[in-house]
Amino acid sequence: MADISKHRQSLFCRDPQSVADYETAMKDAVKAVSHWLKNEKMYTGGSIKELRATIGGFNPSKDGLGIKKSLDHLVEIFLNPSLKVHHPHSLAHLHCPTMVTSQIAEVLINATNQSMDSWDQSPAGSIMEEHLIDWLRQKVGYGKGTSGVFTSGGTQSNLMGVLLARDWAVANNWKNADGSEWSVQRDGLPADALKKIKVVCSENAHFSVQKNMAMMGMGFQSVVTVPTNANAQMDIAELEKTLNQLKAEDKITACIVATAGTTDAGAIDDLKAIRKLADRHKAWLHVDAAWGGALLLSKDYRRLLDGIELTDSVTLDFHKHFFQTISCGAFLLKDPANYRFIDYKADYLNSEYDEQHGVPNLVSKSLQTTRRFDALKLWFTLEALGEDLYASMIDHGVKLTKQVEAYIHAAEGLEMLVLTQFAAVLFRVNPKGYPAQWLDALNQNVADELFARGEANIGVTKVGDKQSLKMTTLSPIATLEDVKALLDLVLAEADRIKDAIADGTYIPPID
Ligand SMILES: Cc1ncc(COP(=O)(O)O)c(C=O)c1O
Repeated sequence: MADISKHRQSLFCRDPQSVADYETAMKDAVKAVSHWLKNEKMYTGGSIKELRATIGGFNPSKDGLGIKKSLDHLVEIFLNPSLKVHHPHSLAHLHCPTMVTSQIAEVLINATNQSMDSWDQSPAGSIMEEHLIDWLRQKVGYGKGTSGVFTSGGTQSNLMGVLLARDWAVANNWKNADGSEWSVQRDGLPADALKKIKVVCSENAHFSVQKNMAMMGMGFQSVVTVPTNANAQMDIAELEKTLNQLKAEDKITACIVATAGTTDAGAIDDLKAIRKLADRHKAWLHVDAAWGGALLLSKDYRRLLDGIELTDSVTLDFHKHFFQTISCGAFLLKDPANYRFIDYKADYLNSEYDEQHGVPNLVSKSLQTTRRFDALKLWFTLEALGEDLYASMIDHGVKLTKQVEAYIHAAEGLEMLVLTQFAAVLFRVNPKGYPAQWLDALNQNVADELFARGEANIGVTKVGDKQSLKMTTLSPIATLEDVKALLDLVLAEADRIKDAIADGTYIPPID
């Protein structure tokens, strides 16, 4: 017979031993995290080889180590060598430092383990999420309502956008024999739709547009990319040309995906101009505001999102420039009637009976079934901090970016590659007189060296055919002095390795 008393002690429940273990281990875990925060080094894990050696392998035993010993082990192999995302030199990605409120909310989210698919699995949470969706809709300019849902992040929100847009376009353009609108959900795609339906986005749009269209069975061939202008935004004249060309080829532009905050350059597309063209071509307009959506709260830069209220759907991501813990995103749909394209009634979750009685079973609005109550993090942060402090934290990075840009323009050996618009700096190290053929390798290896030593996490990407370094300067605590110190490290590192790269004797830290 199983020893139920041991089961009770191990399960999170009202067993006295379980509660005592929870309190002790949570205190120990919090203490370990505080200790880790006090270590000022950005990263201490070393190279991939060294970190593999530290972790060793996964070897669970029959009897288990017990909570204390196992926690100590995880502190050693996971917590201590983890990247400190709040460090001012950790700016490679759209990977943000997090709010204290987000951390506290996680404790409640995890402890209660509510699931957002049906009201009876998250009674308070379901109602609270609807309030937050309503609040976000008003910030966007969609007006009051509950049409929208929290998601795992930008990729899933973008999937909802292109999926609804495609099925809406099919419903508008294909009819059943009785004249009713074609339902992709019921009947699949019409035979000729695969080659006819197109989604148009800029060449700088997030790769999830292609991936999502491929997952939807449409293939990469269904995505048409539009060239960008010198500021990395979708070129409006090129968009017009593309749309006209598609029309001439008898294609249907189901959706234009605009971007508010491209992943590398932070470019924000001209939403008003794109809306006009979308209307002319009867296309859905989805905006991927995974990053730029943070400006909805901005005091100084909200105007950059002008026109967002004219879109049909929006991707927002709170685990980027809103400083929430992963995961936390949202999808907003302007016209609730368009949710019909993914409507599904499961008797055990969102029955007709429940719907008639207005029960908030949020599974009807989501691609997920079981779903975390991530909305609590944003709720708590807004309620605790207030909008003004939040706005100031969001705006800080945008202002810092302008200062960094001016500094790089004036610095010898550094070169800006794209004008800044939001909170990203695309630049490269370019020592005077250094042969152009080695510049790409030099920039790649400067970043790799600084990471391996735990000094900095700088992004490496491409601008045209040039290897570019990238700083995502969204941190609300980073200062110009912090970034200058980092750029000094970049220059010193470049100086240290540049000759070895050029004469072929250099060994990269990644090997
Ligand atoms: C513009 C943009 N959209 C979407 C995404 C995908 O978001 P997620 O990683 O939350 O799925 C990203 C990720 O960086 C992004 O930069």
